[in-house]
Amino acid sequence: MNATLPTGDELLDAIERLRKERNAVILGHYYQDPEIQDLSDFIGDSLQLAKAARDTDADVILFCGVHFMAETAKILNPDRIVLVPDMDAGCSLADACPAEELAAWKAEHPDHVVVSYINCTAATKAQSDIICTSSNAVRVVQSIPEGTPILFAPDRNLGAYLVRQTGRPMDLWQGTCIVHETFSERALLDLMVRHPDAKVIAHPECEPPLLAHADFVGSTSALLNYTQTSGAQTFIVATEPGIIHQMTKARPDLTYLPVPGTGEGCNCNECPFMRLNTLQKIYLALRDLAPRIEMDEATRQAALVPLERMMALG
Ligand code: 13P
Ligand code: SF4
Repeated sequence: MNATLPTGDELLDAIERLRKERNAVILGHYYQDPEIQDLSDFIGDSLQLAKAARDTDADVILFCGVHFMAETAKILNPDRIVLVPDMDAGCSLADACPAEELAAWKAEHPDHVVVSYINCTAATKAQSDIICTSSNAVRVVQSIPEGTPILFAPDRNLGAYLVRQTGRPMDLWQGTCIVHETFSERALLDLMVRHPDAKVIAHPECEPPLLAHADFVGSTSALLNYTQTSGAQTFIVATEPGIIHQMTKARPDLTYLPVPGTGEGCNCNECPFMRLNTLQKIYLALRDLAPRIEMDEATRQAALVPLERMMALG
């Protein structure tokens, strides 16, 4: 990276100065590096960040998360500048469900309602009837009249979890999160044996055998909330470990044990897309007002409809 870029405290000061000059708000997801979480104006899960983007009056939104999250901010804010630190910060779930393929699936099932997880592109959202996030998915599915057949995309694990929770049959797209599908059940069992009093908490993107061991399943913010309120002392955490930064800040007296992944030669369970973002890229984005999220107005308007249906549920 450019050798003239500021580092250390100078970098933080420069970001601070630019944030004010640009009248920018920095939105950060729980899976960002701790140093990025600490400078964000607002930290949250996908739904909370979408609401923060909808409600902001800043001129510039710098979205420290992945591409589909920043796109969601743009769908809700066509007239604001929406920046991402790294345009390559994608998501395996969004990649798994191209809009044309979802459209073809929909055409084969014309009587079905299409529920799409927010982890998809704007073009895929535009093919959907309603969007959900992991924190409101049960409510979204329950809002669909009984007897109406449902297509759910793109996460087969969240979809299967929703079928179990709601009792509603759904046809599932076969996408997965490359982070949550690789948590090792064997490593989880080892942790459970060594910490018999620990509560196992898991994100619904995990595979069903892993979720079967969980005492609590929820979105990132729901997991954070559970650690603060359950009364337990130790938690085995089956989601991206960035969330442990906020858990530790809120309750430093509790113990949080991340579940390792099964990667060969490395048990790293960080999201490689989320972790592309860095402080220097944040600085450059605010300095250059780039990279910017752009989208054609027809796609934006079509994607806004299912997103607003979700928002209207509260
Ligand atoms: P949350 O909505 O729970 O924050 O999840 C987002 C995500 O990408 C999980 O992998
Ligand atoms: Fe996508 Fe998984 Fe990364 Fe979340 S953790 S952004 S679902 S790849």
